[in-house]
Amino acid sequence: MNWLIHDYRESDLAAVVHLIDTTAELGQESVFSLAECISALTDRQPAVVAVHQGVPIGAALACVTGERAWVMRIAIASGWRGRGLASALLVELERRLIAARVGRIAYVLPEEDLLGEGLLNAGYTRQPAVAYFEKTEPLHGPAAGLLDDLGGRFLPNDLWARVAGMEKEKDLIERRVVLPLAEPERAAQHGVRPPRAITLFGPPGTGKTTFARAIASRLGWPFVELLPSRLADGGNLAAALRTAFARIAELERVLVFIDEVEEIAPVRTEPAAPGGMHGVTNELLKLIPGFREGDERLLVCATNSIRSLDPAFLRPGRFDYLIPIGTPDAGARAAIWSRWTEGRADVDVAALVAASELFTPADIEHAARIAAQVSFERDLEAVAGPPGTPPGATTRDYLDAVAQCRPTVTPAQTRDFAADITAHARF
Ligand SMILES: Nc1ncnc2c1ncn2[C@@H]1O[C@H](COP(=O)(O)OP(=O)(O)O)[C@@H](O)[C@H]1O
Ligand SMILES: [Mg+2]
Repeated sequence: MNWLIHDYRESDLAAVVHLIDTTAELGQESVFSLAECISALTDRQPAVVAVHQGVPIGAALACVTGERAWVMRIAIASGWRGRGLASALLVELERRLIAARVGRIAYVLPEEDLLGEGLLNAGYTRQPAVAYFEKTEPLHGPAAGLLDDLGGRFLPNDLWARVAGMEKEKDLIERRVVLPLAEPERAAQHGVRPPRAITLFGPPGTGKTTFARAIASRLGWPFVELLPSRLADGGNLAAALRTAFARIAELERVLVFIDEVEEIAPVRTEPAAPGGMHGVTNELLKLIPGFREGDERLLVCATNSIRSLDPAFLRPGRFDYLIPIGTPDAGARAAIWSRWTEGRADVDVAALVAASELFTPADIEHAARIAAQVSFERDLEAVAGPPGTPPGATTRDYLDAVAQCRPTVTPAQTRDFAADITAHARF
């Protein structure tokens, strides 16, 4: 044959990249990307190049992991296909792989093509009923380290579905926040600008943190919670916030959560109180506009006390929406109770819903735990329970537990919350 096959050399890089590039258009694709091929070449993984009259006309490259090698690509210049060059490259590549003590060689073709037959001739066996599944991890490489440093992570993908009840709030957040961020192009066609910052406010335990996490989960974005106590670490909180936001700007997409934001952005007093948060509030005010310039990012702040936030902080230019999250209505309580009672037919959910007015999801959880504990202890104490008694807490157990628990949110707080909605809510 009128070609020469030699080991890949550094000086072949441009020619091989060109071959891979041009032959991909001819349908000689691979499950390995060009970037992966290049990094294998620069890592000095086994590769061979065929040359005709000094011009590279084909290349084959592999990567080795332990005893197994993957053939990453066999690229043949147009005009040289069907002339035995692919087999010749493969034979040479295999010789190098065997020398590297490889026991198994695999080649995944993206679809049946010319090469398939050549591989059969070269002694490869087509594995029947093998389907190649691939998932692109949304974040890896250097950004993963950055996310770790920030204490951020990806959340399970079902958190949105697991927010029980709260239909009004869920619907509002879905329409105003989630959908414009998930469908930015369609939103833009209608002149809808996706929000960049929102504040959730309402009494403690109503589900603000739960919603923030659920939004990140629904969008598939990493969740980074900025904890002032951790950021400051005894030092300068304003500077720490600046550094954190600079690092966050390096992430491609992110939901940043600041809980109890009233602690770092309280109403500024004149003159500034010594040891107060004046500087920190100013810093945050300066940081938000920069944060807002990026796409695919959302700042979610949560507060139990919106009235103690600095008014400048809440301006429309900074926060797109100020969304109240109140105690769950009867429908939401029913959904939350059903979750804790696991839909058991013997529990009268309607009775529990009626008995737990003003209960937050957190209060319901607390009462449900007490009832479960009572039922567990009764089971341990009973030598032999009466036959036919279903396991688990009874309606009575739940009602007793509800009676023991005082709702976190007092009627006065409910009135304050209603006033806050009138004064501050914006959506
Ligand atoms: N809609 C909901 N459905 C089920 N559980 C909920 C719901 N909202 C909140 N919870 C639970 O109640 C508790 C308090 O919620 P959280 O989001 O921390 O409240 P907040 O941040 O407003 O203080 C958490 O254990 C959470 O899992
Ligand atoms: Mg919270």
